[in-house]
Amino acid sequence: MYRTHTCGELTLADAGKNVTLCGWVQKSRDLGGMTFVDLRDRYGITQLVFNLETNSVLCGQARKLGREYVIQASGVVRERSNKNLKIPTGEVEIEVEELKVLNRSEIPPFTIEEDTDGGEELRMRYRYLDLRRGSVKNNIILRHNVAREVRTYMDSIGFVEVETPVLIKSTPEGARDFVVPSRMQPGTFYALPQSPQTLKQLLMVAGFDRYFQIVKCFRDEDLRADRQPEFTQIDCEMSFVERDDILETFEGLARFLFKKIKGIEFPGQFTRLPYAEAMEFYGSDKPDLRFGMKIADLTSVVRGHGFGVFDTADYIGGICAPGCSEYSRKQTDELTEFVRKPQIGAKGLVYLKYGADGSLKSSADKFYSPEDLKLWVERAGARPGDLLLILAGEKKKTLAALSELRLEMGGRLGLRKKDVFAPLWVVDFPLLEWDEETSRFYAMHHPFTSPNPDDLNLMETDPGKVRANAYDLVINGVEIGGGSVRIHSEDVQKLMFKVLGFSDDEAKEQFGFLLNAFRYGAPPHAGIAFGFDRWVAMFGGQDSIRDFIAFPKNNSGRDVMLDTPAEISQKQLDELNILFRKKDQDRK
Ligand code: AMO
Repeated sequence: MYRTHTCGELTLADAGKNVTLCGWVQKSRDLGGMTFVDLRDRYGITQLVFNLETNSVLCGQARKLGREYVIQASGVVRERSNKNLKIPTGEVEIEVEELKVLNRSEIPPFTIEEDTDGGEELRMRYRYLDLRRGSVKNNIILRHNVAREVRTYMDSIGFVEVETPVLIKSTPEGARDFVVPSRMQPGTFYALPQSPQTLKQLLMVAGFDRYFQIVKCFRDEDLRADRQPEFTQIDCEMSFVERDDILETFEGLARFLFKKIKGIEFPGQFTRLPYAEAMEFYGSDKPDLRFGMKIADLTSVVRGHGFGVFDTADYIGGICAPGCSEYSRKQTDELTEFVRKPQIGAKGLVYLKYGADGSLKSSADKFYSPEDLKLWVERAGARPGDLLLILAGEKKKTLAALSELRLEMGGRLGLRKKDVFAPLWVVDFPLLEWDEETSRFYAMHHPFTSPNPDDLNLMETDPGKVRANAYDLVINGVEIGGGSVRIHSEDVQKLMFKVLGFSDDEAKEQFGFLLNAFRYGAPPHAGIAFGFDRWVAMFGGQDSIRDFIAFPKNNSGRDVMLDTPAEISQKQLDELNILFRKKDQDRK
């Protein structure tokens, strides 16, 4: 062993011991008679001290140590005169008697400390150096801890972790596939799994009635803070269960993780909110319930007073921002600008200031009497001191814009606290989504999701109205997981494919292996998958999942450290029988 202790464990209780530490030189300070070195490893930082008077040769060596040199230092643990109580090892230092440079380092491209001078791009290019920084390292360790607890819980209730292949056939999650060409069968491709959906259903047919897997999934889609092209799911499936069995089992997982990782317990059952209510009151299928500010439908009280914007609108809705009735013109203008952003898409904002003294002042005063405004306040459930913010337009779009405005106000008012968690189940999603562009229905979840049995009769007459037996776990406005009860009857599956516009041949071609398997005794089954990266990031109090992945991709899907995706050699292309279609500019 190169070391007797790590850099994170020595305390006053070790004073007087002879120890040997190894690590990286974070920084050194030369104070004339003394040279101090902060030695870092995965576990912490310990101060080394070199005394010019007692050992001038060693002190000379220490002065030559550069940042990030890898060293081995032996000496005696002493109490520090100048203590740093912010770190566990801050009361001691090692008076070094022997020093060995195990490896030199070039000057790193950025300082490897909490307050780094390295920008995102640079840190990503040298991710292995970024990972030496305490906060990034701790995120990765948090990820490990969460994975360990997931396995402990799942194992404790009889789930078996089964690995499924990565070179498979297109999966039905609705994003684009990443594909891998086959050399042995020229002209054919594997697809990387968008999820192990079909495979876990086959495991149910195989009799593994409680399956889970912490598994990589691949989706070629537009990236955002909470989306990576390759990400990790906690993927789960159970046989002989109904919806509520799944909700209870996995509410158990959520409770277990919150308790173990955050020390938080939730009283009572998680809220179960039907999709239709989530949309009506929060304008979103993943509402942030850390705060209220529910959307109120004001359509019937504000229409018909000669105010064109409202009279021509399909829907008018509002939210009450508590304590904001004193907002200045500048502040309301800012909000108007916010809702007008292209990504929010509202045309304008009408407000009503409900003063703490009961006064009512609206930006549409011209068209409404004080009695009219009183009705707005009643319908919206506003209280004195509230600012009622109103948007109008096509219903779906207006609700979506109100949802954004609600989140914006929640943020401004400090109601979206990182250490408060509001989990809920959103249930009763629609089974199908109509797409105007292609004039057809798509499965909102995936084509194996079971319709709500009460709505089966609508499948052919009014498919848009059919509710799915599907559910999402939402925490603080983030979709942490989603799943469904699956179709296990051939007839219902056929009907589903029909409504989705798949011909028998197309269904057979894409999912024949699953349909075949279902002929051999498919048990009733249901499942769910959680976004593992999202969950860990939430526990870590951050929005971006990138910081919780050791080697993530950037927003254009590039790994700037590996410098990939990259071109491959002509030899490889030839072996794969791939003719490369040259880019237009190359042809010229
Ligand atoms: P779904 O597509 O809803 O369901 O995915 C499950 C969860 O995975 C997370 N997630 C992502 N996380 C990071 N980056 C991405 N690109 C990304 N895409 C999804 C989300 C999401 O809730 N097979 C079904 C599950 C089932 O029916 O059992 C599925 O994959 O947190």
